[in-house]
Amino acid sequence: MNQKLLTGAIAAMAFLLPSTAMGQTADFNIIPQPQQVVADASAPFVLNANTVICLQANSQDMKRNANMLASYIQQATGIRPTIGKLTKGCTAIVLSINKNISNAEGYTLDTNTKQIRIAGASAAGVFYGIQTLRKSLPLCNGKATQVSIPAVHIADAPRFAYRGTHLDVSRHFVTADSIYQFIDMLALHNINRFHWHLTDDQGWRIEIKKYPLLTKIGAKRAQTVVGHIGYDAEKYDGKPYDGFYTQQQIRDIVKYAADRYITIVPEIDLPGHMQAALAAYPELGCTGGPYKVWQKWGISDDVLCAGNDKVMTFIDNVLKEVTQLFPSKYIHVGGDECPKVRWKECPKCQARIKALHLEAKDGHSAEERLQSYVITHASNYLKSLGRNTIGWDEILEGGLAEGATVMSWRGEAGGIAAAKQNHDVVMTPNSYLYFDYYQSLDKANEPLAIGGYLPLQRVYSYEPMPKELTADEARHIIGVQANIWTEYMPTFKHMQYMALPRVAALSEVQWTQPQLKDYNDFTNRLISLTNLYDRLGYNYAKHLYNVNISIDSDTKWREIVVHMTTAGDAEIRYTLDGSQPTASSTLYTGAIHLQKSAKIRAT
Ligand code: ACM
Ligand code: ZN
Repeated sequence: MNQKLLTGAIAAMAFLLPSTAMGQTADFNIIPQPQQVVADASAPFVLNANTVICLQANSQDMKRNANMLASYIQQATGIRPTIGKLTKGCTAIVLSINKNISNAEGYTLDTNTKQIRIAGASAAGVFYGIQTLRKSLPLCNGKATQVSIPAVHIADAPRFAYRGTHLDVSRHFVTADSIYQFIDMLALHNINRFHWHLTDDQGWRIEIKKYPLLTKIGAKRAQTVVGHIGYDAEKYDGKPYDGFYTQQQIRDIVKYAADRYITIVPEIDLPGHMQAALAAYPELGCTGGPYKVWQKWGISDDVLCAGNDKVMTFIDNVLKEVTQLFPSKYIHVGGDECPKVRWKECPKCQARIKALHLEAKDGHSAEERLQSYVITHASNYLKSLGRNTIGWDEILEGGLAEGATVMSWRGEAGGIAAAKQNHDVVMTPNSYLYFDYYQSLDKANEPLAIGGYLPLQRVYSYEPMPKELTADEARHIIGVQANIWTEYMPTFKHMQYMALPRVAALSEVQWTQPQLKDYNDFTNRLISLTNLYDRLGYNYAKHLYNVNISIDSDTKWREIVVHMTTAGDAEIRYTLDGSQPTASSTLYTGAIHLQKSAKIRAT
C-alpha cells in the first residue's frame, strides 16, 4: 500500500456542486437558526396570486416592511402579493406589532390554512420575521403559481443586540452602489450594525465640508503596492487610485440602511492611521511633512500630533460633521495601531506630556497616556453632542475614557479587561472573525490574502461570552462583529467571496442561542441559503462543498480506512481508479477499507 500515492491523489481531487431539488414547498431550515420552530401536521397555507399582505399597524415602517416582503416573495416565486385589506376568499400574510414580546427585535410567525401572521415587538422584529419567511421560500425561478407553506409556530429573538459587520473602504474603495448591495447582504443575515471604516493611511473617503482637501487630496493615492507586502519584493502598479462619498451620498446610504434596521457606525480612525489626512493638512503632523497618501499596506509612523491644539480642533470639527450625518449612538474613533515614534521626538507632544503630568505610570508609558488623552478628548466632545465613543482595544492602553465601549480585536483579552472595568464590549477577535484571513489551507488556489486561516467551521465555533467573566461582567458583552479589511480585496466581488459564506456563520454566532448551534445542521441549511445567494448574484466561497478526506491505517488487518465528509448530508460519489466521478459512481455510505493501492476521486 502506497500511502503517499493515496494522499497525493486526494490533494488533486475535484469537487462538484450538489444539485438541489427546488420544490414548491417552503421549509423553515434557515440561517440564523430561530430560537423555537414548532411544526404542525395540519394543512398548509397556500400562497398564490390571491394572497394579500395586510397591515395591522399603519406606520411608515410597517408599510415599507410590507413592500419589502412583497418584493422578496416575488424574487423567490414570481408571485407578487398585493398590499391591502383582508377580503373573503383571499389568504393573507398579516403583519402586526405585539408589545408583549419582550425582546425589542423579537417576533413570532404562525401559519394556518388562511393566514401567516408575523407579529413583532417592533417594526424591526416584524422585519426579522419577514426575513425568516423569505429565507423559507423555495426558489421557483420566478415561475411558481402556488407555494405551500407548512403549518408552523416560530418564536424568535436575537441573542445579542449589537450584530455587526465592518468594511474598510480606505484600502480599496467600495462604490456607493456596492454599499447598497452590502447593506442588503447584511439584512439577509439579520445583521443590524454596519461599521464603516471611512478613513485610513491609504485614503480619506468621507466629504468633510470644513476640510475640503481631505477628499481633494486625501482621497487620491498616486499608485498602489502589488503583491503581498510581507513576502513579495516591493512593486507598485503606477495607477492613480481615487474615491470618496459625498455627504449627500452618505445621507442616502444611512437612510437605506435604517430602512433595513441597520445602524451605520462610522469610524474616523485616530490618532494613528491618519497619513491621508496629513497629506491634505501636513500641519496636523508632528514633523509638518510633506506627506503622501500612503501607497502600501501596513502602519504608518506618521500620526496626528497630540501636542498641537489645532489637531484637537480638527478632531472636533470632523466629528461634528460626522455626527450630523450619522444618527448612530456610537461613533468609532479607532485608536488602534498608533506608533509613538514621532511623539517621542516631537517637542509639542513632549511639552503636552509635561504640562499634563502624563509621565509613565501604572505600567503605561507617557506616550500611551498621551494617546489616552487624545481619545478622552474625542470622547468628551462626542459626549457633549450626546453620543458614545467606541474604539479598538488599544484604547485600554493609558486608561479607558469614561463610558467608552471597546472593540476587542487582538483576541479576547482586551474585551475581558474592559468588561472587568465595567465597560461595554463588542467581540471581534482576529482569531475567529477577521474575514481578510484565508478560508482554505490550499493557498495556491486562493486569491492572495493577508494571511491567517479562518475556515467556516472555526468562525461558526466562536463563543463570544468568555468563561473568565462573572454574570455581572458578562452583561457588558453587548455583541459580536466580523471585520473586513480590504488591503487584498481590490473589487467588491472579491470582497463578497471573502465575506460569504462566513457572514452566515457569523450571523448564527450573533443571533442563535449557543445550545441550538450545530455545525452539521448549519451546513445543511447553508445549502439553501447559497441557492438564494445564487439567485441574488452574490459571489461566495464554495469550500463547503469540498469533500474532506481523512485516513487511518489499520496495521492488524493491513488496510487503509478512508473517511469522507462534506456539507451537511449531501451525497458523496467516488471512484478508486482516478476517473472523474459522476452521479452514477459509487455512493459513499461509510468508511472505505482498502487493501491495495487506489487513486480516490470524490465529488
Ligand atoms: C485592527 O485590525 N487594526 C483593528
Ligand atoms: Zn507631535
